[in-house]
Amino acid sequence: MKDLEPLSKLISLKGKKALITGSALGIGKAMAYRFAEAGADLELVDINERGLRTVAEELSKFKLEVGIHKVNLSSKEEIAALWEELKGKAPDILVNNAGIYPFKGFLEVDDAFFSKVMDINLKSALWMCQHMIRRRLKKGGVIINIGSIEALIPFVEGMAPYSISKGGSHRSDQVSGQGIWESWFQSKCHHTRGNNNSGNKGRGQGSHPAPAEPPENWSVV
Ligand SMILES: NC(=O)c1ccc[n+]([C@@H]2O[C@H](COP(=O)([O-])OP(=O)(O)OC[C@H]3O[C@@H](n4cnc5c(N)ncnc54)[C@H](O)[C@@H]3O)[C@@H](O)[C@H]2O)c1
Repeated sequence: MKDLEPLSKLISLKGKKALITGSALGIGKAMAYRFAEAGADLELVDINERGLRTVAEELSKFKLEVGIHKVNLSSKEEIAALWEELKGKAPDILVNNAGIYPFKGFLEVDDAFFSKVMDINLKSALWMCQHMIRRRLKKGGVIINIGSIEALIPFVEGMAPYSISKGGSHRSDQVSGQGIWESWFQSKCHHTRGNNNSGNKGRGQGSHPAPAEPPENWSVV
């Protein structure tokens, strides 16, 4: 098989900083490598501090700035403390990747189990988006929320809370887009919200015409 072009030849993220949650293991760790290959500085966030240290050590060969942050993302307070720590150095790119996928039969799911899945998979991403948008309102940025096919086609048994969390996360993408539009609107004109049947993300309706495009430099993926 033909060798693939190194990522650094296809895209440069030099001078950009990416914050990736759940980056001590799995997909988050793999993404950290790919961002590093493209030259991005990194803020790695996970509850697993030892894993984070290992990843940071492995990435040292890229000679980038790599910060590590032990954060329990199911705690809103710990998320707020993280963004305090990042004051003045907010990332250009936020990747909400941390997630859990525990199994339980639908009839056995109780409140504690359901809340645990929601706190990490759904609520943490929402709080992270709020902080990111507040911090980068004028500069713009990119938010990537890692979803799942389970959001659209729940097919694995015992994963009802997971599917629901990812379904909610799918919708949060649209809503946080709306947050960006709304914030932008607030300074420009009074925003009247109405039924949005057009499928366009959070554009204003009513007496004030909405812009055709989002504020410059913002993207929620
Ligand atoms: N692996 C798959 O097949 C698959 C498929 C579809 C979607 N996804 C999604 O991709 C994302 C990553 O999945 P993965 O397979 O790499 O998972 P993983 O279990 O390998 O890694 C998840 C990481 O999140 C961290 N984490 C978990 N709870 C945390 C918390 N409370 N605070 C901070 N960090 C926490 C873990 O420590 C771990 O490092 C998840 O959102 C998952 O839902 C995975």
